[in-house]
Amino acid sequence: MLVKTFAIDHSGRGIAKVNGKIVFIKKALDNEEVEINLIDDKKNYAVGEVSKVIVKNIKRQKSICPYFAKCGGCDFLNLEYEAQLKYKYDKVVNIFKKYTDIDVIVNDVVENVDNLYYRNKATFKVDDKIGFYKEGTHDIIDIDTCYIVDKKINFILKIFREQINCDGICELVVRCSRYTNEIMVIIKIEKEIQLSSIVEKLHDLVDALFVKKNNTYRKIFGKDYIVENLGDMRFIISPSSFFQVNTDMALKLYEGILNVADLKGDENILDLYCGTGTIGLFLAKHCKYVLGSEINAAAISDANYNKRLNGITNIDFIVADGLKKIINKEFDVVVVDPPRSGLDKLTIRNIIALKPKKIIYTSCDVITLVRDINLLKEFYKIVSVTPFDLFSNTHHIECVCMMHRLDI
Ligand SMILES: C[S@@+](CC[C@H](N)C(=O)[O-])C[C@H]1O[C@@H](n2cnc3c(N)ncnc32)[C@H](O)[C@@H]1O
Repeated sequence: MLVKTFAIDHSGRGIAKVNGKIVFIKKALDNEEVEINLIDDKKNYAVGEVSKVIVKNIKRQKSICPYFAKCGGCDFLNLEYEAQLKYKYDKVVNIFKKYTDIDVIVNDVVENVDNLYYRNKATFKVDDKIGFYKEGTHDIIDIDTCYIVDKKINFILKIFREQINCDGICELVVRCSRYTNEIMVIIKIEKEIQLSSIVEKLHDLVDALFVKKNNTYRKIFGKDYIVENLGDMRFIISPSSFFQVNTDMALKLYEGILNVADLKGDENILDLYCGTGTIGLFLAKHCKYVLGSEINAAAISDANYNKRLNGITNIDFIVADGLKKIINKEFDVVVVDPPRSGLDKLTIRNIIALKPKKIIYTSCDVITLVRDINLLKEFYKIVSVTPFDLFSNTHHIECVCMMHRLDI
């Protein structure tokens, strides 16, 4: 079937209309004529995939990756980088326009200069193949290189493909540091497997090997964590802790947060969803005190280690679920960096009750960001929104939203 696309949706799919029905087309861009096969035909919409591009978007480029057409990992290796940034800028502006009545200033997207080989973490699915799921399925596409992960990760992938018997492994996670060159491998299994030959192959190549079974990590050899440098600071990353997947852009993001925070040195800051303490530790050097809070106890243990590693004393960390319980202390600034699901309503109510002068909301999902802003807008005005391209070649975008209390 031949269709004409007129836009790209928020998930990175081309949109066309066929007999009045919307069709979302994976890997198609806007302003194209493409031959498609329908892979799902629902009452109100359909989903297709491109079989042939007849008329190209002028910004279309040949994908560097031979798996791109089928793989579910990336969306935009077929689109020039500048055009990706424009798509992401428009996406943020349009979501704000569609879901709020607030006028916002959206700054230019902060670009990712090294937009290939940037990810410091990859999760490969394993059966008789190793790779990523085919778009929208649980079929694994066998790959030998991923063009958005660090080359050290591709090196480990090659070792597993060529030298390791992967029977019994269901997932292979490789994490690495960009600036200390350390590598951690995590093998996910459901039943115990013989590890001796894997240990033998990896022993001199990686810094740590863990097995993950029933959501529990067991160290097989090496360090308990790897270390990454961000500017002049150092951070440990243990197997279950969150760390931004794009090291260079994480530094730009944290510098961006520090910039909008405009600290004078006497502020008390609450850093919610603090992970390994990165944002709080960046801000601590410029304010009076930071309290970091996070649900994952292992991340809080890393955060306390990071505090000592960086010689920072004016910060404490606690394990807590959002801000479900009131903290008996005054905070001038509340920083939040929740997962994609955003903030829960009780946490929003309790942030409002704390009456911070500023809220800095970092989000990797513009829809939940805007949903939460709608609950804050009675008390806070948006001063700026800055998108950061942490996830180049995908449709995802990170945003930092600066809000000031309305009555000051
Ligand atoms: C997007 S990460 C941000 C981490 C950190 N700010 C950073 O930049 O590395 C979100 C963090 O929220 C934590 N988290 C998820 N659900 C949570 C909850 N209900 N309460 C507190 N923390 C939560 C995750 O463990 C993760 O560390």
